Amino acid sequence: MTTANQSLKPITTKINEKGHIEIGGCDLVELADKYATPLYVFDEATIRTIARQYKSAFASYDKVSMLYASKAFMTKAIVRILDEEGFGFDMVSGGEIYTAHKAGADMKKCLFNGNNKSYDELQMAVELGVGLISVDNFLELALLNDVAKSNNKVVDILLRVTPGIECHTHEYIQTGHLDSKFGFDLTQVDSAVELIVDEYKNLNLVGLHAHIGSQIFETSIYYDEVEVLLKEMGRLKEKYGLNLTHINLGGGLGIKYTEDDMPPSINEIAEKIISSIKANAPKYNLDEPEIHIEPGRSIIGTSGVTLYTVGSSKQVPKGRKYVAVDGGMADNPRPSLYQAVYTADVANRPSDAKTETVTIAGRFCESGDILIKDAEMPPLEEGDILCFYDTGAYGYSMSSNYNRVLKPAAVLVNNSQSDIIIDRESYEHLVSLDRIPERLKD
Ligand SMILES: Cc1ncc(COP(=O)(O)O)c(C=O)c1O
Repeated sequence: MTTANQSLKPITTKINEKGHIEIGGCDLVELADKYATPLYVFDEATIRTIARQYKSAFASYDKVSMLYASKAFMTKAIVRILDEEGFGFDMVSGGEIYTAHKAGADMKKCLFNGNNKSYDELQMAVELGVGLISVDNFLELALLNDVAKSNNKVVDILLRVTPGIECHTHEYIQTGHLDSKFGFDLTQVDSAVELIVDEYKNLNLVGLHAHIGSQIFETSIYYDEVEVLLKEMGRLKEKYGLNLTHINLGGGLGIKYTEDDMPPSINEIAEKIISSIKANAPKYNLDEPEIHIEPGRSIIGTSGVTLYTVGSSKQVPKGRKYVAVDGGMADNPRPSLYQAVYTADVANRPSDAKTETVTIAGRFCESGDILIKDAEMPPLEEGDILCFYDTGAYGYSMSSNYNRVLKPAAVLVNNSQSDIIIDRESYEHLVSLDRIPERLKD
């Protein structure tokens, strides 16, 4: 059975009677008209369907918690939707913790993770009752113990480890290999455990956490990841008599950005994870653990599209044709950051034959601001509305105000209704944090 992360487009995408692309029952050309472009559009049905597909893929294993990796895209509305679907939240900053809390997430189901959490952020997590903290390094063990002690609490923690598993994805989004900035090397785990057991009495170690990388297409590495973590837990049980009960496997499942991409289904990943637990828990003399899954991209990526308006174009003599749109690397840094590839259609005439090869350029002042190199498109005209698929993850969340350009709005569509979930920035908002020192005022 296929799952929606394997679809190039949001599951409600169709061509309507006007010949325009429609998502969530909303005509994209009308959305562009109503809210202006660039515009992020999120399809609620796709988000909920994928969240449910995660739950049903793991239904045969009763000790599973799903945590959405907030870094992919987090707003209060997204928190509401995924909280309703029974998800907790993997959070990596005070800002993400604050958003989850303000949107009414169940903080007990949440996890705080990250390689350089500040004292204040740890304090905030403990005060707000975040259920688990994944401790990344020795400094953090000491800081968190202090924080927990001053709050008179014992805090449940995981140790983030680097399992030494390489996956075939871009090096900037690999995290599980040994030469990584994240987590304890397996050779450092004993020292961390001894500190927790002997000194850090306000920390309660319940398990191990790893995350191998992102946009992963290989299923077997999830099998290996489970085995590495269980083997380590078995070793700690034998050496220290520790009964660890949790493994957090991170996220990473890939999505389909182009027709050539063939990501595995959620069911295939679940099957590898569960079969590895069944085989390896007895092998390492352990009870079957509680597992945590932390998907980000595969929950939200496919649900999101970005609409741009076509502006100027340039034919390089004997070279490429560049067509510029009204957004680019500031609303979607992925192509310039790690050569990510996207697929686009013309929302106002998606059925026109794709007879030209053009390079779709952003509007920002960098030659590297190219959104799609050599895209097959119908001849494009000023005013056409382009729909870029699969921009739901790591688009808005990585966006900036480069060139002092305003961040776009985001709308949620469902059952022919569209609602703003993030307002478009205004120029007033843009300068609202700027201050002019008195001495520069006259
Ligand atoms: C610890 C951790 N968990 C989960 C994720 C989410 O990964 P993805 O969006 O690929 O599912 C990340 C992404 O960097 C991560 O670092």
